[in-house]
Amino acid sequence: MPAISNKGLSMPESPIRKLVPFADNAKQKGINVIHLNIGQPDIKTPQVALDAVKNNDISILSYAKTEGSYNYREKLAHYYLKNNITINADDILVTTGASEALSFVIGSIADQYDEIIIPEPFYANYNSFSTAFGVTVIPIVSKIETGFALPSIIEFEKAITKKTKAILICNPNNPTGYLYSKKEIKQLAHLVKKHDLFLIVDEVYREFIYDGKEHYSVLKESNLEENAIVIDSVSKRYSMCGARIGCVITKNQILRNTILKFMQARLSPPTYALIASEAALDTPQSYFDDVIEEYASRRNILITELNKINEVTVVNPQGAFYCIVSLPIKNSDTFAQWLLENYSLENETIMVAPAGGFYATENLGNNQIRIAYVLEKEILKRAVRILREALNTYILNEHSKEYILKEI
Ligand SMILES: Cc1ncc(COP(=O)(O)O)c(C=O)c1O
Repeated sequence: MPAISNKGLSMPESPIRKLVPFADNAKQKGINVIHLNIGQPDIKTPQVALDAVKNNDISILSYAKTEGSYNYREKLAHYYLKNNITINADDILVTTGASEALSFVIGSIADQYDEIIIPEPFYANYNSFSTAFGVTVIPIVSKIETGFALPSIIEFEKAITKKTKAILICNPNNPTGYLYSKKEIKQLAHLVKKHDLFLIVDEVYREFIYDGKEHYSVLKESNLEENAIVIDSVSKRYSMCGARIGCVITKNQILRNTILKFMQARLSPPTYALIASEAALDTPQSYFDDVIEEYASRRNILITELNKINEVTVVNPQGAFYCIVSLPIKNSDTFAQWLLENYSLENETIMVAPAGGFYATENLGNNQIRIAYVLEKEILKRAVRILREALNTYILNEHSKEYILKEI
């Protein structure tokens, strides 16, 4: 057989993919599986976006403009202006999801063996996109004990080498739910300026901020025009994950011209999805107010219930819709598999994302899971009850012995 590339072989698998067959088996046995593992919101897509696709009279489904139409980018610029961020249509390049934006940015700023520093745990695909370009991720640990706050700037500075091209953060964070403060963003801005690096901020969860806190975008930093890159998407903001529309925002024109070459090679973002995304910009503020209120109350229930379980630690997330939960076990991979293979309570079990896959440092996060609270409150309550009972059984019961043995 012709050989597969080393790059291909070293591409990381999705941290939850290996659990999918176990979830399918459980479902085949008639067990209801509550999916706490994925960030697919159950919130309705704004009607204006759906109607725009239904009601248009396109007769030729042609290519769209490579970087997205000027109209769409101008309306997008206006959206940011409403959020006190001053950018122009020209600063925006429309991509096929934040995924493509991340991929093209990494391809445009880093060569093989170059390095990107990322606080861990991080969105696992940052590793995949970096690997695809032969780029090395240099992790810096953020700890549950400090609420997953930004690690000290000294640690970032120590990690910078001649190969470092960028620092990448996700604000608010997937998987921790941490909201970086203005002070932390300013510290990073100062550091990248000092070392002439890019600062990539993935802001796809920018709308999901709780407890009256405010999101501070890196785009508000003056003097950072050459360094700052924002990644954004309609996926979560409008619950339009299937549209596959995102964007890169940067005032660095040379970088934009480079990214544009990657974009030209893939021709255009999807036309129908652009129509939906442009219409989505007319979504009334009341939609977001309702959605944020819903997520905040889901979070409150989830965190309150989790805190009732012995030896379980969780940080109250200030943004996005995820949290990392530390459990009194040694290996969350085997625990997650056991939940699907061997456990059910009243014919239901839960699927969780083992957190090891969100860390680049080996053996970190092995006792942690990530939970996405994109389910209704009653389901979340049932899910935490299942987790509590399952932990009791797992720790005490004979049934789980073989799994516990695997952990040692
Ligand atoms: C932090 C983060 N960035 C990027 C993405 C990808 O977004 P998109 O659907 O726009 O490709 C996700 C998706 O879950 C995400 O969580």
